[in-house]
Amino acid sequence: MLADDADPATAAEKLVHPQFPRSAAYDPVWQGRYAMGPNPLWLAESLAELLDLRPGMRVLDLGCGRATSSIFLAKEFGVDVVAADLWVRPEENWARIIDSGVQARVMPIHAEAHDLKFAHEYFDVVISLDAYQYFGTDDLYLAYLQQFLVPEGVLGIVVMGLTEELNGVVPEHLADGWKWDFHAFHSPRWWREHLSRAGLMTVEHADLLPDGWRHWRRWHELGARAAEPRWRDFCAAWVRRFTLDEGRTLGLPRVVARKIKKDSS
Ligand SMILES: C[S@@+](CC[C@H](N)C(=O)[O-])C[C@H]1O[C@@H](n2cnc3c(N)ncnc32)[C@H](O)[C@@H]1O
Repeated sequence: MLADDADPATAAEKLVHPQFPRSAAYDPVWQGRYAMGPNPLWLAESLAELLDLRPGMRVLDLGCGRATSSIFLAKEFGVDVVAADLWVRPEENWARIIDSGVQARVMPIHAEAHDLKFAHEYFDVVISLDAYQYFGTDDLYLAYLQQFLVPEGVLGIVVMGLTEELNGVVPEHLADGWKWDFHAFHSPRWWREHLSRAGLMTVEHADLLPDGWRHWRRWHELGARAAEPRWRDFCAAWVRRFTLDEGRTLGLPRVVARKIKKDSS
């Protein structure tokens, strides 16, 4: 999102944060340029706290966008990552993966979340950062996705969402920025129920990422100052809405669910 001439000091001010010490070691301009929403490195780092990632594990980063989270996980935890995305071409991500020196651990592919070509029971972990809301609210989707996880494999998501369900009533201070697809925003409580309902997975964790709304606002603060000019007013308007909202409505749900092992008897 960052403009080509973005000031590195501004990027550092908004993208280096003590809550995310591992992410802080990465070039802030790189982080900001290739993020497609609230910093995916921060989302990956906060999710990784809840996952027991070990070297050699197979991880699917579903909806990886520009694959910075995939690169981060490979570097930080030694996991093997498939960086799968619909809108971003794998060739673009491959160049970034090579530049980062993790070409032995990260494989970029073009993928549609409903048409995955992997073997069943292939992945130890599936993560999805600011992407699962695009396909995972469908009642039937989890039954499809969990096929690709090993028994007791883990799904971890961080999504744009809500503190509580709105039941169709959008708060006045957010109404002018509310888009139709925000109806896919949900609360941690909703995600817990949604992912456990079919009896295929056990939700082990469902909360709001601590200070998530502030991190989301920081993303727009950065955009208001350093995005390509056409985005700046849009970002500034969202900074104002987040400031009015103060985390009452919007947040970043973080959910971890484990695939239930079938009884073979
Ligand atoms: C807001 S971007 C977030 C990307 C990245 N995870 C990040 O945080 O910067 C959402 C991503 O979800 C991906 N996506 C949306 N629908 C998808 C689908 N049906 N299958 C695969 N990826 C999808 C898009 O290609 C896009 O890159």
